[in-house]
Amino acid sequence: MSELTQEIRRLKQQRNAVILAHNYQIDEVQAVADYVGDSFYLSRQAATLACDVIVFCGVYFMAETAKLLSPDKTVLLPEADAGCPLADTITAEDVRELKRLYPGVPVVCYINSSAEVKAESDICCTSSNAVHIIRSLPDRQVIFIPDGHLGDYVAKQVPDKKLILWGGSCVTHAKVKPDDVLKARQRHPEAKILVHPECSPEVVALADFAGSTSEIIRCAENSADKTYLIGTEAGVLCQLKASRPDKEFFLLHAGLYCPNMKKTRLQSIYQALLDDQYSMKLDERTAKPATRTLRRMLEMV
Ligand code: 13P
Repeated sequence: MSELTQEIRRLKQQRNAVILAHNYQIDEVQAVADYVGDSFYLSRQAATLACDVIVFCGVYFMAETAKLLSPDKTVLLPEADAGCPLADTITAEDVRELKRLYPGVPVVCYINSSAEVKAESDICCTSSNAVHIIRSLPDRQVIFIPDGHLGDYVAKQVPDKKLILWGGSCVTHAKVKPDDVLKARQRHPEAKILVHPECSPEVVALADFAGSTSEIIRCAENSADKTYLIGTEAGVLCQLKASRPDKEFFLLHAGLYCPNMKKTRLQSIYQALLDDQYSMKLDERTAKPATRTLRRMLEMV
């Protein structure tokens, strides 16, 4: 164990802290974390953990979500500028405008959104529960923001609903083109293709399975197939290579690296625990309605 890892463990104990890491974090960050998972799993952990400090190794909206669900804890984001360009595609004013255009239509926001956007929405969702949540709503029309690709995926699974979509997308997942899938399939005709629903509808249509990062990991771990073509960020390979060394995993595109998720290092986790950087603060006006939107998701799943 490195000296830095030992120091992190010591500080963690001293501060009664827990480290949460998203599946996209680099291998050594996943190794030092107490809990690693997808957005839904991590938000559930943040809401229920008994600790004083949460170090969130992920991007800004994830640490902000943890703070909304556990406002009495210190929530630290080791890299203050680890943002999410997808979350930045929509503002609270955009949501208010959508509500003016479609009065009375419920707004479901993807967790990849700011607290201000969550505050204007009715219920939150993640990629692992978006279909379930939208299917459960009594309304036929639903506004879904901000990911248009995930929205398209959900609309196909729930054809009796009419989804009004916002055109945001994840720059990393959008790199995968149908041609990449076709060429990869030619190289590995026996492979199973697993993608995240943030990929384009054309890519999802060519895949064998679409799901959240943890669902992709579980599917690849548990299916009988030996070879997998993965259409999500490279971080998921960390757990897969460790748990299934007997299988082969290939990324569908060489650029499946999220620059923001890859910012966190052991040094920044150590610094976060040492100096309380960067401690998430909430805006009083948005915290209450944003938390209600998140809590509705937790109650429905
Ligand atoms: P998951 O909830 O599937 O982990 O997705 C997080 C994300 O932002 C995908 O890009």
